[in-house]
Amino acid sequence: MQTVRTLHALREAVAEFRAEGARVALVPTMGALHAGHMALIEAARGPGVRVVASIFVNPKQFGPNEDLARYPRREAGDARMLAEHGCDLLWAPAVEEMYPDGFATTVSVAGGLTDVLDGAARPGHFDGVATVVLKLFNQVRPDVAYFGEKDWQQLAVVRRMAADLDCGVEIVGVPTQREDDGLALSSRNIYLDEGERARALALPRALGVAARAIGRGEPADAALADARGALESAGFDVDYVALVDAETLGEADAGRPRRLLAAARIGTTRLIDNVAVEEV
Ligand code: PAJ
Repeated sequence: MQTVRTLHALREAVAEFRAEGARVALVPTMGALHAGHMALIEAARGPGVRVVASIFVNPKQFGPNEDLARYPRREAGDARMLAEHGCDLLWAPAVEEMYPDGFATTVSVAGGLTDVLDGAARPGHFDGVATVVLKLFNQVRPDVAYFGEKDWQQLAVVRRMAADLDCGVEIVGVPTQREDDGLALSSRNIYLDEGERARALALPRALGVAARAIGRGEPADAALADARGALESAGFDVDYVALVDAETLGEADAGRPRRLLAAARIGTTRLIDNVAVEEV
């Protein structure tokens, strides 16, 4: 697997894939890779497909008080893991390559998709995500790109942007990969100490309990309040626990797919998770 750091080298490598007649798949990441990211690589692989992964810790999607400086960076290990899983090319630009002096454009997906949930808690975050993802699409020009359901709102924002801006890139969502005990894999889990790691389990548990209750037809308000209570009892500082329409992230309607999402802080670490609400 080759690693490229300039747009010129990227374009040459992708042109070679195209010359072979390959379909090009893109897996965007910020590195500190784990089995969740590898599920995206595995999903992307296939006959006649060349898989490009990107690693770029995107400053534009971090708020001033967020963890940009301490975000884990370990590219050598990441590159080995990608190669072992059959990734064909790693695109790992420096910040100056992605955002040269004078860079002045922001891609902003408006409306209910970006000013709710994580968008309310992290102003500007989804503008930063949309801007870098559109740049990655324009740089790599993939046929298809893979994103995790773990970041459900991000997936919804990227789908909207790709449709609105005629990106011509198929967007595929990949189910959330979890530890054996149910905690969603995340690059931020390494911040958790032993006690926090044990208490973090309350997040997937509370979501599971609430989703089943709502799926059985119990009142959503009570189920959401119970989930919030369970998180607070475990020592979480809750940002939101919300039931929304899975696609628009607007008001949930029992006739359409619904999603239950939560974000909460344990110590200094902010965790997010989400599950489908299945009608039973
Ligand atoms: P990052 O947090 O590195 O995640 C890269 C991709 O891996 C995202 O699509 C994310 O949803 C997916 N992912 C992370 N943990 C997962 C898990 N446990 N199961 C399944 N998929 C998982 O998300 C970003 O980077 C950035 O915002 C990015 C899209 C790269 C733009 O900068």
